[in-house]
Amino acid sequence: MTKPCRDVAVIGAGIIGLGVAWEAVRRGHRVTLIDPSPASGATRAAAGMLAPVSELQYREERFLELTRESALLYPAFIDELANTGVETGYRSEGTLVLGLDPADRLVLADLRAAQVSHGLTVDELTIREARRREPLIGPAATGAFLVPGDHQVDPRQLASALFSALAGNARLLEGTASGLIVEGGRVTGVALDDGSSVSADETVVANGLGAPALASLPVALPVRPVYGDILRLRVPAHLRPFLTTTVRGLVRGNPVYLVPRTDGTVVIGATQREDGRRAVSAGGVYQLLRDAQQLVPAVVELDLVESMCRARPGTPDNAPLLGRVSGVEGLVVATGFFRHGVLLTPVAARICADLLDGKPAAPEHNAYRPDRFGKGSS
Ligand code: GLY
Repeated sequence: MTKPCRDVAVIGAGIIGLGVAWEAVRRGHRVTLIDPSPASGATRAAAGMLAPVSELQYREERFLELTRESALLYPAFIDELANTGVETGYRSEGTLVLGLDPADRLVLADLRAAQVSHGLTVDELTIREARRREPLIGPAATGAFLVPGDHQVDPRQLASALFSALAGNARLLEGTASGLIVEGGRVTGVALDDGSSVSADETVVANGLGAPALASLPVALPVRPVYGDILRLRVPAHLRPFLTTTVRGLVRGNPVYLVPRTDGTVVIGATQREDGRRAVSAGGVYQLLRDAQQLVPAVVELDLVESMCRARPGTPDNAPLLGRVSGVEGLVVATGFFRHGVLLTPVAARICADLLDGKPAAPEHNAYRPDRFGKGSS
């Protein structure tokens, strides 16, 4: 049986919308991707850690299966973009996790026990072994763990590669979606704020924190902004490569990460604030540099080239809002990816594309249904 080719509108060209659009194109659908400022939100700030293991938080074990599945899809996802000729910054050197003081080490050791109990690989290293991998680790670190399966990608480059893959294969509309067009319980397209509209058999809502503001949305989407300050620094020639592995740390209870890029820059992130302030926080920048420098003292010798603040779309249970809304045809929701948007892109693209192909939702994905908090009204 041949699959139906559908007109698909994707609202939002962040990393999730781009991934969904590309997968939909690959499945033979006609795609219109709508965004006034593509890849300029959380995607632009994201560090790009593909870290289902070291990002695991207590009480989030239930969606470990989803994050691991997506991490496993990444190598093929990257390979399939290779013919665009655009780099993605995918690196598979693993992630080093460091604790600063004995209490940090204890917290990480407890977390490791939980990670291992879920079948995850986390190797305990001596500080000497850690320093053999990363000679610039400072004398203050007291505990070290290696997570070989946690990798990274450069989200800005990945977004460029996805754009390149979509160019000529999808319609890219730099407009603002103001609402959905709903006729008799079915979403039939997207209204834009200039008065125009896009008709679609299927509409994918993938515009992150902007989703709840869409008029006629037939479900309340409880996303809230969780702001993050994040820094980009350039490594002077005499200090390169600086780090070869992503380094995550717990510094007197504060999490911090340093992500080395192949282009000689390092990303240091990220705070988590729900104070509603959109500007880069001076306190946040101070905290990130202070804590990163505790782990890798040479951080103070780098050039600070960018500080940025963006909001992650958080949800009440930290899991995404992904799938169909019961009783509503023509609509797929893909938002609320919180700290995991880049990691979850391949699996979200696959789940959405399966729904667009007319497949029923898989029972194991019920936990992500966008109407699980009640349909309400937006
Ligand atoms: N995934 C890392 C962050 O959100 O800071």
